[in-house]
Amino acid sequence: MKQPIIFDTDPGVDDAQAIAIALRHPELDLLGLTTTYGNVDVEVATRNALLLAQLAGRDDVPVAQGAAAPLVKTRYPPPAHIHGANGLGDIPLPEVKGKANPRTAAQFIVDTVNAHPGQVALVAVGPLGNLAAALQLDPTLTERVKQVVIMGGSIREGGNVTPVAEANMFNDPHAARRVLTAGWPLTLVGLDVTHRCVLTPAHMARIESGQGELGRVLAGSYAFYRDFYQEFLGIDGCCPHDSCALAWLLRPDLFTTARGHLTVVTEDDAEGQTLFAPEGRAFIDSRWSRTPAVDVCLGVDGETVSDWIADVLS
Ligand code: BDR
Ligand code: CA
Repeated sequence: MKQPIIFDTDPGVDDAQAIAIALRHPELDLLGLTTTYGNVDVEVATRNALLLAQLAGRDDVPVAQGAAAPLVKTRYPPPAHIHGANGLGDIPLPEVKGKANPRTAAQFIVDTVNAHPGQVALVAVGPLGNLAAALQLDPTLTERVKQVVIMGGSIREGGNVTPVAEANMFNDPHAARRVLTAGWPLTLVGLDVTHRCVLTPAHMARIESGQGELGRVLAGSYAFYRDFYQEFLGIDGCCPHDSCALAWLLRPDLFTTARGHLTVVTEDDAEGQTLFAPEGRAFIDSRWSRTPAVDVCLGVDGETVSDWIADVLS
């Protein structure tokens, strides 16, 4: 049986790669894309989600628009130097024909999960406002979601937008804290593993030739993103952060995880930092171990995950 998923996203170059997997993988049943601000404004995220579904011949997939800003903090400008002002490397894009679903992302999540109790995996790869809003609308959602997979955070790796914070956590730490501590079956796929995966130009050449018009958009936006990685991390290729969340869902055998308690710092210099207290470990007091236990990814066979992404899309 196919795994039903909702993919919550801020496309974004690496989001686009992951959306392509969600649209194409034969073992996934993509029930909808929900969008958030993050890499781009939310209207741009929605346009890109609609476009990617259209190019994949999947304009049957609903796209529901969500959060335009963080719950509490003031928003930073979108990182146009990483993803391009249009979120897809500033390449020229075809016209979008479809329209967003009339429901908000949060309402779409609540309705869809409740229509398929115990079956849906929520995969979120942007700031977590939509999941936080869905929990606000229906706090009992935690009992009916099969699995939550979050691309975000960093346990040992350090941050990518601050010395300690990963971008999705930093962009809305208050939402992240609610979602990570809600008490549902959750796995965090953070920089500890996504920084071990590199999608090389050779991988992308295979994807480009395997995906028709969608492949051209993925390859064009990848070229822009690759320049950023070359300059800032000195690697030839890019980290396919968001695809790693789907890799964990479908190939958990390629990851090692630890179980424990997570929380997110919401204020001051460490805002957005994910704090992890391994299960059973006693610290000086119990304050770090009071949140419900979740799983965090700490290790990965990065080469095989990167090959898996290219295999799925070629
Ligand atoms: C995460 O931040 C975004 O820029 C990427 O799309 C990914 O979801 C990596 O830190
Ligand atoms: Ca993302």
